[in-house]
Amino acid sequence: MIDASQSVANVTVTVAKSAPKDATAVAYGVATKGAVPRQLGANRAGLDANDFDGKVGQMLAIPNADGVAYAIGVGDPDSIDVTDLRNAAANFARSACKHERLAINLADLGHLDAKAAGQAVAEGALLGSYRYVGLKNDESGASKLSDLTLVAGDKRLKGVQQGVDRGVAIAGAAALARELANMPPTELNANDIADKAVEIAAATGLDVEVFNKDQLTAMGCGGMIGVNRGSTEPPRMVKLSYSPKNPSAHLGMVGKGVMYDSGGISLKPSNPSHVAMKMDMSGAAAVLSAMSALKALKCKAKVTAWLMCTDNMPSGSALKLGDVLTMHNGKTVEIHNTDAEGRLVLADGLSLAVEEGVDGIVDIATLTGSALGALGTEIACVLGTNQDLVEQVKTSAADVDEPVWQLPMETKRYRPLLDSVVADMRNIGGPYAGTITASIFLTEFTGDVPYAHLDIAGPMENQADSGVQAKGASGFGARLLIDLACNFAVPAAGDAHTA
Ligand code: BES
Ligand code: MN
Ligand code: ZN
Repeated sequence: MIDASQSVANVTVTVAKSAPKDATAVAYGVATKGAVPRQLGANRAGLDANDFDGKVGQMLAIPNADGVAYAIGVGDPDSIDVTDLRNAAANFARSACKHERLAINLADLGHLDAKAAGQAVAEGALLGSYRYVGLKNDESGASKLSDLTLVAGDKRLKGVQQGVDRGVAIAGAAALARELANMPPTELNANDIADKAVEIAAATGLDVEVFNKDQLTAMGCGGMIGVNRGSTEPPRMVKLSYSPKNPSAHLGMVGKGVMYDSGGISLKPSNPSHVAMKMDMSGAAAVLSAMSALKALKCKAKVTAWLMCTDNMPSGSALKLGDVLTMHNGKTVEIHNTDAEGRLVLADGLSLAVEEGVDGIVDIATLTGSALGALGTEIACVLGTNQDLVEQVKTSAADVDEPVWQLPMETKRYRPLLDSVVADMRNIGGPYAGTITASIFLTEFTGDVPYAHLDIAGPMENQADSGVQAKGASGFGARLLIDLACNFAVPAAGDAHTA
């Protein structure tokens, strides 16, 4: 059902003391100093002659009788980190994508914790071999990888294996997030993603409940119903729960699932192309994918998630400017722009998370073009009401290399921009600080619960292959949310930083 993430899932990853005889491409880490692995078939002078001196990002393919040996630059042997290793493994797997059997030798990474190295290399190699091929007649670009062996010394085998198990689960989740966001909008509508969520939940030990239009109406989810009004396809809200025994804490996650964002009556111009607006469900995809890995990773926290799924279309029945919606928590919102729809669907999810009694809420959404303007395509914006929770998000972001930067939740100064003559608030602020005003809007629905908001409009899509990143949907946030859930602790009291 989910093609390419299956291709990631179909790779068998093994840990062994030596590379299997039938591996046709074998990678060896080479640092900027120290010994060069003998099996590479080249010495330091030979590598130098090919402009390879072991810096991070370098790669040299050396053909031999069995296939190809790859020298992979790992930089200064004392300071290599997991991010470099993850990307190096990804670049190797991408470069060697015509080979079915790969091996990666970890022998010379002795200074790195075995578990961390095993995880980074497995995760990187699998993500580097990810490509969306679902609809291409010519699949020759797809990775042929079927067997990957990580080679480690006796003492480190167990640690590497533990890391590999985590890396495989995490890469599978990230690939799933990419796959969902890459799908054409008509192939994946709200009902389709809900069906997939039900399948995934059954396969990964989650409880799942799907809410249809009538149920959402009965629940007073005015944001969801309002945004959906212009569409011929009904909305779906998916509630997923991961409930371990004796949970350490309870985290709520909410994902924006706008399956296609045309802008509604405030129609987006066709130029620049809004093909990318099929990815406006990337937040929901990241949440679903992260949830799918929690049991395999033995996450200790309980996690409850809401996917808020509908498209945003113009039609005779669509939301009009000036209309007022009553949201699930009773607050009223005057619509000044139907293209500011993400915050409307998130609002209902956030107030449901508050009612659930969670210890903290994180939401993730392709919410504002301003976020793209502020931090570009590589870095997501994070804003929150509780600094401890924001710090937990930042730590996870750094650990998984899905970078975030905090913007101030300047409610005192900017809340007046949302004032409405006829309702509690309007759905857009002024011409500036769009990411901040959108976040302030969302805090109207999070009560006193510690809250962090991730705006991933910037990094939702990649324009090129590089390291673990593949051209197309990035799956940004899936790995961050997994890390956050697995390390989540009830946030300490304390307001988030403002300006
Ligand atoms: N989905 C868009 C935001 C977006 C823009 C995501 C570019 C990815 C890339 C969102 O629904 C939107 O249209 N936001 C508007 C809000 C505005 C009308 C206040 C925007 O940012 O222009
Ligand atoms: Mn929009
Ligand atoms: Zn949108």
